[in-house]
Amino acid sequence: MAARVLVTANMPRSWLEPLDRFGHAVVLPEPGVLDHRALVAMAPRVDAIISLLTDRIDAEVLEAGASGTLRVIGNIAVGVDNIDVSRASELDIAVCNTPGVLDAATAEVTMLLMLAASRRAFEAERALRAGEWSGWGLTDFLGTDHEAATLALVGHGRIARAVELRAQGFGMRVLHHARRDTGERGYVADLDQMLTEADVVSIHVPLSPATANLIDASRLAAIPRGGVLVNTARGGIVDEDALADALERGALGAAGLDVYLGEPNVAPRLLAAPNLVMLPHIGSATSGTRSRMAMLACEGVCAVLEGRSPPNIVLAESSSRAS
Ligand code: GLV
Repeated sequence: MAARVLVTANMPRSWLEPLDRFGHAVVLPEPGVLDHRALVAMAPRVDAIISLLTDRIDAEVLEAGASGTLRVIGNIAVGVDNIDVSRASELDIAVCNTPGVLDAATAEVTMLLMLAASRRAFEAERALRAGEWSGWGLTDFLGTDHEAATLALVGHGRIARAVELRAQGFGMRVLHHARRDTGERGYVADLDQMLTEADVVSIHVPLSPATANLIDASRLAAIPRGGVLVNTARGGIVDEDALADALERGALGAAGLDVYLGEPNVAPRLLAAPNLVMLPHIGSATSGTRSRMAMLACEGVCAVLEGRSPPNIVLAESSSRAS
């Protein structure tokens, strides 16, 4: 049966192809008016929402939706920390995400940040553009080597594995830590122990109460002096004040961030910190990847609306509302 699907952002219509194929009605917000209040107002009047990681799908939105016809959220992101998943579960609203289609793009940005931070690429470029480059200098812009360096991956999901593959191509030794023993080469059960062996640390866990501030001052201090930290996962996983402090003191050699607590606002201390390369959350930002993400979110929504359980379901709608 044709459903009403609220799509919270404008995007090329081809990215919504599954909705059109299933004959669903796409409801688009007036340009620029879909704030949280509008989301709460529209939620009960639609069957599904295609959301972005910047949409706060909290209890208020979900409760409003459940008082009407809302059955499923398709989040165009692999992370679902913008959604109150446990409230959605209580209300029998299904949640889908976009695993598997952004691994390469995000791993590329991880490598970009790792290389740029360790090789001081943006600092060197700034100097060149400012006319401060007076010629090849034997001891200018000295960075650190990657060949034979140790990369420690915090988390070992799809994106971490894609980073591992690329880092191996650079000749790096790769360790990983995950909550459960992966049984794979490079697994280290003790996160703190792994950090003490790292030249580069890269974060690849979802943001949850268990991982908020996982990389705090003491874990940053465990990384050997001059080490590099990269975060392409979520801002709240690294304590930003502690990170700024470690960079200011030179304890950490450099860092690369794509994600921040309180996006799009970036903490002034980070903006002023030395040896920090920052990108504006572009990990998955290629047109191919973003279109695959949007289509996968739509596929998930269409499946749930048909009473099926798609592979990209985070949280199933219970059968009581599935008919
Ligand atoms: C991007 O940050 C995502 O979670 O997909």
